Amino acid sequence: MKLWQKNTDSDAAVERFTVGADREMDLLLARADVLGSLAHTRMLHKIGLMAKDELEGVQRELKAIYRQIEQGGFAIEQGVEDVHSQVEFMLTEHLGDVGKKIHSGRSRNDQVLVDLRLMLRRAIMEIAGDVRTLFTTLQALSERHRDVLMPGYTHLQVAMPSSFGLWFGAYAESLVDDLQMLLAAYRITNRNPLGSAAGYGSSFPLDRQMTTELLGFDSPDYNVVYAQMGRGKTERVVSQAIASIAHTLARLAMDNTMFLNQNFDFISYPANLTTGSSIMPHKKNPDVWEIIRGRCNLLQGLPGQIAMLTVNLPLGYNRDLQLLKEALFPALEQVREALQMADFMLEHISVRENILDDPKYDYMFSVEVVNNLALSGVPFREAYRKVGLDIENGTFTPSKTVNHTHMGSIGNLCNDRIAQLMEAAMAEFHFERAVAAEEELIR
Ligand code: ARG
Repeated sequence: MKLWQKNTDSDAAVERFTVGADREMDLLLARADVLGSLAHTRMLHKIGLMAKDELEGVQRELKAIYRQIEQGGFAIEQGVEDVHSQVEFMLTEHLGDVGKKIHSGRSRNDQVLVDLRLMLRRAIMEIAGDVRTLFTTLQALSERHRDVLMPGYTHLQVAMPSSFGLWFGAYAESLVDDLQMLLAAYRITNRNPLGSAAGYGSSFPLDRQMTTELLGFDSPDYNVVYAQMGRGKTERVVSQAIASIAHTLARLAMDNTMFLNQNFDFISYPANLTTGSSIMPHKKNPDVWEIIRGRCNLLQGLPGQIAMLTVNLPLGYNRDLQLLKEALFPALEQVREALQMADFMLEHISVRENILDDPKYDYMFSVEVVNNLALSGVPFREAYRKVGLDIENGTFTPSKTVNHTHMGSIGNLCNDRIAQLMEAAMAEFHFERAVAAEEELIR
């Protein structure tokens, strides 16, 4: 039985094909769906479309369903199309016709929109938390190994001295910018599409400001047509933020596989965090980093995939939009897993302290020697030429003390300032408002 069913049954093959993976996907929207209905029905009561005793019954049943979801006992039954139908059927079963009232002034089109916003808001909160955890680990590593030098490369050729302080710290700072992307995505996500109904509003005097406040959104999506356009756009901006994090992680993963390689041999991991080979007994492979790299490279394709799905859709609801869930939902989990596994690995990393004793890195100090000459009064070009000739003649002697003092350099990492940027970005989300609103709704 469908919410929209009148006298004809739809063909079984049509149903199977159009519902597709939606039942499974919708389980992830269940919590949000109940929250949306808790707010919508309070608003219906306020505008006189639901009596006080009706509202009380509906609120009680919705809260019971919410608890059932939290305890893992909620399911979308066979033959029920989606989570919206399941919740409404459960209400009708317990409350009779009152259950059928809750859909006044609402369509599944704005219902799924608001569910997605609430669900994505929560997902962004969790992802931001994982970003901050990894950030803290990277900063701690940067501080701990601030004086340990390593080669820096250009063209993948040995270039200039770098340090583990710089290397770890660079990825921490990269995560700050990724968090800015996530913040932008949050701001676009945290708006209320409820009340746009099928995409063109309603003749009921809906109080959209009220549902906006009850659900803890920053503002409504005002224009009802634009609210419906948000389906696809929201997913795209969230996926762009995920892709940005994935870009950072994929590069971090690449560095780790390379530095672990015997020809570099800069870092190591405990044997139980690596994997073996079925034929070569000596192997300790960095599979965790490889899976992170592969997953994150795929995640970087997600914005393109979402763009392809939505690029030429006509305005208004189109069923194609349902498929966005299959593209985006797994990515929300995958980026979290990648962040958590990267953090887990880095908690166990060891760095080699004497890398630069190897004479193959001596020329890396050529710029240091040139600069020292220049500081002692020799014009830069002349100093450059002298050191160049020494190298050619085999008479170059490196000076291995590195004295970089400007902002952001080996000797002045500015990790405290980078941490301030991170905290400032985190504070701008105001997750506490969303959390408080949701707690009030289910109380
Ligand atoms: N499962 C649908 C989706 O995700 C819900 C909305 C259905 N609306 C409709 N007009 N068929 O898009």
